[in-house]
Amino acid sequence: MNSRGIYIAVDIGTSKVCAIAAEPDHEDILKVVGLSSSPSTGLRRGTIVDIEATAKAIRTALDDIEASAGIKAGQITVGIAGEHIASLNATGVIGIADLSNRGLEKELKITQEDVDRVIESAKAVGLPNGRRIIHVIPQQFTVDDEAGLRNPVGMTGRRLEAQVHLVTSATASTKNIITAVRHAGCQVKDFVLEPIASAQSVLTEEEKKVGVGLIDIGAGTTDAIVISKFGVEHTVSLPFGGNQVTSDIAGILRITDEQADELKLKFGHCFTAETEVDKVFDVKGVGGRQDRNINESEFSMYIEARMDETLRMVKANLEENGMIKHLNSGLVFTGGGSKIPGIIPLAKRVFDLPVRLGNPIGFIDTTERIDSPEYATATGLIAYAAKFQSEETSRYDSGTLARLFKTITDFFQKNF
Ligand SMILES: Nc1ncnc2c1ncn2[C@@H]1O[C@H](COP(=O)(O)OP(=O)(O)OP(=O)(O)O)[C@@H](O)[C@H]1O
Ligand SMILES: [Mg+2]
Repeated sequence: MNSRGIYIAVDIGTSKVCAIAAEPDHEDILKVVGLSSSPSTGLRRGTIVDIEATAKAIRTALDDIEASAGIKAGQITVGIAGEHIASLNATGVIGIADLSNRGLEKELKITQEDVDRVIESAKAVGLPNGRRIIHVIPQQFTVDDEAGLRNPVGMTGRRLEAQVHLVTSATASTKNIITAVRHAGCQVKDFVLEPIASAQSVLTEEEKKVGVGLIDIGAGTTDAIVISKFGVEHTVSLPFGGNQVTSDIAGILRITDEQADELKLKFGHCFTAETEVDKVFDVKGVGGRQDRNINESEFSMYIEARMDETLRMVKANLEENGMIKHLNSGLVFTGGGSKIPGIIPLAKRVFDLPVRLGNPIGFIDTTERIDSPEYATATGLIAYAAKFQSEETSRYDSGTLARLFKTITDFFQKNF
């Protein structure tokens, strides 16, 4: 936490760095006291490739929120995503009777220590060199033959099993984030996988209980998370997003990426059946080429092809991982890429599930600027910080890499 009980988070995205400051207002509501985005040029597909450019973008966004909130940013919560992220489900097992000081049957009660121990054993998957675990999220516990337990503390048994969801990242990529944040004059308080953050700010309790998927279409990555009544079942960060749509348009119309992005934002649609065939717009020729008229329907066909492929690749990933069965309340879309008109009918056609856009909930923002799916990650990071860091403020304060990666079991037991 920073001065005056204000939380600060930074979503370091491929197209924008978004800084947000918020303070708890009353129960479960956060009041946004600063919000700023600055263009990001130092990332490729969600991963930092230029530390100094990233540090500069972070500083620019922070300058703005420091001025509006009247504070100096110190420790910040940052999002992490990109191709270097890998996730898996793992199982750990321990014997409760193994502890030497417990001989009697009536004393075989499971303690928090046992839970910590079984989670440690679930983490003992052979990680390749250069990778770190960033999240260990308990899903369910089994005591002897009784499965599906959320919290086994106080139960009696001889065998304790834990199923967990592990998220790992490349150490080098993570260090680059720490360095960029340091060069911007701050320290990383916590790393949060971006779709885990987004889930915090846009999903309802009911959706999480029933089972839901969230898909964040950013500029350089498309991230997904699936949550069932047992918690986080699956996370993935895929290396494509709205930038690909932009470069398709630039390639087909032979214009610059900047021009293509502008046309996409102005005239773009990704469900051709909903567009009007006789509407046209001008495209300025580049490098001596003639200006042209483009039909909006034809334009939307280019976009629909890429967006359809993007959604099908996410669907294939969810199918491969056996996730479709958990999506009882459907899918929620976030990220700037989901703002393209036509996304709802297109996603319905691809997934054949209920679909909605995810705007942040549980915030007071007098400017109403956050009321948009591209702020799902930034607001989710703040929600995460407020829920978790207020409970144990000193947990990561030493700022060393090892401590940053300390597991956050308690948080996930309470919040997913
Ligand atoms: N109204 C809109 N219509 C179509 N596309 C849009 C619209 N608004 C934003 N986008 C696209 O959304 C993308 C940016 O989304 P977002 O801000 O969520 O990305 P990011 O967080 O910077 O990137 P990432 O999460 O992939 O690292 C860009 O490709 C942009 O062109
Ligand atoms: Mg993003």
